[in-house]
Amino acid sequence: MNAQPTRLDLERFRTAIVSRVGLQFDDAKLGFLGEVLQRRLDKLGQPSDTYLRGVERDGLNGEVNALARELTVGETYFFRNIEQFRALREIVLPERLHSAPAPRTLRLLSAGCASGEEPYTLAIVAREAVADTSFEVAIRAVDLNPAVLEKAASARYAPWALRETPPDIQRKWFHPDGRDLRLDESIRSAVRFELGNLASHDPELWLPATYDVIFCRNVLMYFSPEQMRAAIVRMARSLAPGGFLFLGHAETLRGVSDRFHLRHTHGTFYYELKEGGEPSRAWMPSSLPQSRAPAQSAVVVDDEWFDAIRKASERVAALMPSPSVANEPAAPSLPAAPFWDPAPALDLLRQERFAEALVHVRAGPAPDKPDPDVLLLEAALLAHSGQAAAAEEVCQRLLKIDEFNAGAHYVLALCREQSGHQDGAGEHYRVAAYLDPQFAMPRLHLGLLARHAGDRDAARRELAQALLLLKREDASRLLLFGGGFGREALVTLCRSALVECGGRP
Ligand SMILES: C[S@@+](CC[C@H](N)C(=O)[O-])C[C@H]1O[C@@H](n2cnc3c(N)ncnc32)[C@H](O)[C@@H]1O
Repeated sequence: MNAQPTRLDLERFRTAIVSRVGLQFDDAKLGFLGEVLQRRLDKLGQPSDTYLRGVERDGLNGEVNALARELTVGETYFFRNIEQFRALREIVLPERLHSAPAPRTLRLLSAGCASGEEPYTLAIVAREAVADTSFEVAIRAVDLNPAVLEKAASARYAPWALRETPPDIQRKWFHPDGRDLRLDESIRSAVRFELGNLASHDPELWLPATYDVIFCRNVLMYFSPEQMRAAIVRMARSLAPGGFLFLGHAETLRGVSDRFHLRHTHGTFYYELKEGGEPSRAWMPSSLPQSRAPAQSAVVVDDEWFDAIRKASERVAALMPSPSVANEPAAPSLPAAPFWDPAPALDLLRQERFAEALVHVRAGPAPDKPDPDVLLLEAALLAHSGQAAAAEEVCQRLLKIDEFNAGAHYVLALCREQSGHQDGAGEHYRVAAYLDPQFAMPRLHLGLLARHAGDRDAARRELAQALLLLKREDASRLLLFGGGFGREALVTLCRSALVECGGRP
C-alpha cells in the first residue's frame, strides 16, 4: 500500500480532474478524493508523483475512464422532468421538422447520458412524434463512465427506473423480463452509445451546426464554471441554427452564454440557439447584486447594508468588458465605461426619495452605451415610484442587452402585477426565480400569487423556499427589490403567509 496522499497531492489531483473531465470538487469533498486517489495508487502500484504526472500530462487515457467510474454521479430515470419531454414533443420537434425540408436526418444528442434512460426516452418521444418517414431520427448518447454505458447497452431496467413513465408508454415499449423490464428492440437500436468526454474538444462529437437538439441535463452542475462555459461554447457551435438545448432544471445559462434565447413552455425552461449564433457584443454579466454566485454568498445582516451597497458600487465601477468565453475569439475591447458612482442613488432609494434618485441615475453614463446595472436601477426606481409603464420600457431595453437578467424579469413582473395582469406577472416571477435560484423576492411573490389563487400546496412550497432565501438574501438586493421593506419585515410577512396556508414557519 502506498503512503497516504499529502495535501499537495490532493490539490494536484483535484486540479487535474477539473482540467481533464471538468468535474469540480470543493474542500468538503477532499476526503473522498483522497480515498479515490489512494485506491488508484494501490491498484496501479505507482508512487503518487508518477501517477499524478501521468494524469496531468494527459498521458493516461484509460485512467480517465477508471476515474469516471469512481467520480461521477449516474442518477437518472426514464421521463425525468417529464414536462421537458412534453415541450420536446409539442414544440421543439415540430419546429425542427419545419426548419429544413425532408428528406433529412434529425439529430439528437444526449450528452452525459448515464445508463441510457434519457436517450431512450428521447427515442420513444421521437418515435411517437415524428410520423413523417422521410425524416430519419439519429440519437447519439455520450458518457464518460464505461460502467453506465454497459448498463445502457443491456437495455434492461428495474421498475423503479420507470417511476415517472406514463403507463401506456410502459405497456407499449417495455416487456417484462423476470423482475426487470426489457426495452423494445426498435427503441434500443435507435440509440448509438459512445464513450466520450464533454470536457475535451472532440472534433467528431462537436461537428459544427450538426444537432437539432441537445439534452445535457444534470451534468454541467458538477463542472467548474470555466469548464461549463467551454462545454456550452462547444454545444452552441455544434447545434444547427435555431437548435435547442435542454439543461437540468437547476442549471441555467445566466452569466454563462448569450447565444441562446430562453424558452418557457409546459412549465419548464429550455434554450434555443439564436440565429447566427454569434454573441452580442453588448452582453456582459451584470455586476449589481442580482448576479451573486451561490458560492460567494454570505449572510449579510441588515445593518451592513451600506457596506453591501459600497461593494455593489465598486462592482459597477469595475465593469468588465465582454466576457471572453473559453476557446472563443475575444470580442473587440469596448471603450472603458466612464466612472459612475451609484451609491448616492442607492442611498436616496433607501430614504425612499425616488424622484431624486432617478435624477441621479439619469445624469449617469451616456445613454448610447446602456449599462445593464444602471438600467436595472432605473427600472427599480420607476417601479417604486409607481411609473409601471416607464419601468417596463426600461426593462425591455435591458432584456435586449441581457436576456437572462433576473432582476429585469422581476421588475417586469412587479409592473404587470401593479397593472392587474397576474398571469403575466407569474410568468416573469417564474423566469426570474429560474434564472437566479438564490433570488428570494420572486419566490415570495409566487407564493403570494398562489395563495391568492387558492393553490395552497404551491403557496406553501414557494413561501417555504422564499423564507430560506430571504434569510440569506443580499442586503443591497433587498434594498433594490424589497419594495421598501427590510429583511425582518419581509421574513415576518412570508412567515405569516406560510402559516395561513397551513405551512410550518
Ligand atoms: C446525473 S447523470 C445525468 C444523466 C441524465 N442526463 C439525466 O439527467 O438523467 C450525470 C452523467 O454525466 C456523466 N458525466 C460527467 N462528466 C462527464 C464528462 N466530462 N463527459 C461525459 N459525461 C460526463 C456522468 O458519468 C453521469 O453518467
